[in-house]
Amino acid sequence: MTPTRIEITRPDDWHLHLRDGDALASVVAHTARQFARAIVMPNLKPPVTTVVQAEDYRRRILASLPAGARFQPLMTLYLTENTPVEEIARARASDSVVAVKYYPAGATTNSDSGVRELSRVYHVIEAMERLELPLLLHGEVTDPEIDIFDRERVFIERHLIPLRERFPALRMVLEHITTRDAVDFVSGAPANVAATITAHHLLLNRNALFEGGIRPHNYCAPILKRETHRAALLQAATSGDVHFFLGTDSAPHPREAKETACGCAGLYTAHAALEFYAEAFEQAGRLDRLEAFASFHGPDFYRLPRNEGRIVLERAPWIVPDEYPLAGSTCKPMRAGESLAWSLVETTAS
Ligand code: NCD
Ligand code: ZN
Repeated sequence: MTPTRIEITRPDDWHLHLRDGDALASVVAHTARQFARAIVMPNLKPPVTTVVQAEDYRRRILASLPAGARFQPLMTLYLTENTPVEEIARARASDSVVAVKYYPAGATTNSDSGVRELSRVYHVIEAMERLELPLLLHGEVTDPEIDIFDRERVFIERHLIPLRERFPALRMVLEHITTRDAVDFVSGAPANVAATITAHHLLLNRNALFEGGIRPHNYCAPILKRETHRAALLQAATSGDVHFFLGTDSAPHPREAKETACGCAGLYTAHAALEFYAEAFEQAGRLDRLEAFASFHGPDFYRLPRNEGRIVLERAPWIVPDEYPLAGSTCKPMRAGESLAWSLVETTAS
């Protein structure tokens, strides 16, 4: 029988871009209506590199929430080649910072301050391993010689395997994985290694970049891959394996920053995140495993309590608006103008 209702423990988003200022105010409600908590990426301009900056950013997020919203931002620090070891201790001692984010310099939006050479931050990573502060990795090489579709696989071979050997106890999350290679690496690793998977990488393959013409709104980092990889991601997400959990990587950009000669990377999915994941899990015939992926594996990895609230989705088709406001501009959401099968109808906070 076709299910018409899904009720699960309130989920969390373990990888999210909320931006700042007016853009933050435009988008945060979409996330807060679904998710109890979200790991907020630190790639602002300038990046969030200290606990003091993360705490200020956290206050700005809380101040932007709609009245009555129950939502907890979990903060991250942006790792640079100048991050002092003492900052790791401060992060560990803080109530608001839960992880440190590694961006290879130049890999994606606002990553100029990222790390050029991993070995230059080994002393910082050593402190993270010792203090059990998770390292979140944007897992792509930036070497222009490497084909863009191979950059995740080559990162695993060149950097991740050596990193695991050098720091076997390091708690790490390979973020927004896009390949079978990443699935194999993570599923074969012990419990201190995990991965997030976005809804768009579960639903789209690289053909979506060129459907009848170039589709800048489907361009993201890491780039969409071929169908065999999408199938491997869907299998991993719906397998029940605790290594894998939900992270939307919802990344809003103003429309004009994407519809241009050199467009920004990022899909906006926060407006219908759970609806998208439900669609993917239903496609795999595994709606029964959505709750563990969305609401259990993440908090278990981060050693946080599972949420007590619930959310309800119903099979009630609705049309995604053509655009949403974003600061003084607009943002084109995933599936703009198209129909979605599932609707979020209820969220209870506790
Ligand atoms: C992100 C952004 O716009 O901040 N873009 C994206 O395509 N995912 C950055 C990132 O996570 O790589
Ligand atoms: Zn991201």
